[in-house]
Amino acid sequence: MSETVLDMASASLKATDFDLAVWSRARQLRVEQALSDWVAPDAPAGLGDAMRYAVLDGGKRLRPLLVLAASEAVGGSTSVVSFNEAALRAACAVELIHAYSLVHDDMPCMDNDVLRRGKPTVHVRFGEARALLAGDALQALAFELLTPDEATVPPTVQAQLCRLLALAAGSGGMAGGQAIDLASVGVKLNESQLREMHRLKTGALLQGSVMMGAACGAPSAQALAALSAYGAAIGLAFQVVDDILDVTADSATLGKTAGKDADQDKPTYVSLLGLARSQAYAQELLVQANEALQASGLHDTRALRALADMVVNRVN
Ligand code: IPE
Ligand code: IPE
Ligand code: MG
Ligand code: MG
Ligand code: MG
Repeated sequence: MSETVLDMASASLKATDFDLAVWSRARQLRVEQALSDWVAPDAPAGLGDAMRYAVLDGGKRLRPLLVLAASEAVGGSTSVVSFNEAALRAACAVELIHAYSLVHDDMPCMDNDVLRRGKPTVHVRFGEARALLAGDALQALAFELLTPDEATVPPTVQAQLCRLLALAAGSGGMAGGQAIDLASVGVKLNESQLREMHRLKTGALLQGSVMMGAACGAPSAQALAALSAYGAAIGLAFQVVDDILDVTADSATLGKTAGKDADQDKPTYVSLLGLARSQAYAQELLVQANEALQASGLHDTRALRALADMVVNRVN
């Protein structure tokens, strides 16, 4: 290829040419369909209804999009038609863990919220016991999806995906971070303690999504390290922005109750740094995420770049 053609090829990968809405729509449709197929309504005694209510028809689906973007960046599937099976299963599995975490997060023993994704929370609609069990069952289903009976996903990839998801969701990740969150009500955390809480309760699953996507392809060590740094930066940024939106957005826009962090005396970036410094910090994390992508050696990181931008500049 001549130099000019190469220049044109790389120019065609400029972020400005990339339409995240178009890219996302096709993938969200595929994920939506797969979730609806896999979260069956026939679990006993109304459990299936609660599970479907928790998962379907709502949410930004950011984590599945991160899985798919990372898998495409490392040379997994590149078109919607040829979604590779591992990436689609990983995308749905991570969303199931996320949905379960929201069901439990909203329960009276945790944040006691009545509104989620624009609807009454699962325990409000179905009762606490069924909400608890729906969360449990969604968690189990996530790992079932990662270990299909048929040989569509190589066993080593299955094992790697299970390990990444377990690490992100467990006591060293989301569940551990939630424990810190609950133990920190009314407590003044310093910046490093707050960063650690956010890194675990929210960052771990976002970073895990990126790493699961990477595990569906064959990244170089350089790309893997860069994707890990990218995931860490956007993972933390996501919760910083969640703290900001709790203060700046209204409940209708968020689909969940605004202003509840201050009401419940939770330590947040806004309570620690104030609004302006929190916003500046989120932008700084976006720069870090983009720098990581630049150092990745990956050819096409436009979707990952656009998703990072969305994480930091979103309105809900
Ligand atoms: C909300 O996550 C919970 C946090 C980790 C802050 P999202 O803002 O991604 O929620 P949905 O999936 O779009 O509803
Ligand atoms: C939740 O953090 C993190 C989870 C693991 C679910 P928040 O409690 O701030 O999430 P929202 O604001 O209720 O969505
Ligand atoms: Mg919470
Ligand atoms: Mg909450
Ligand atoms: Mg919040």
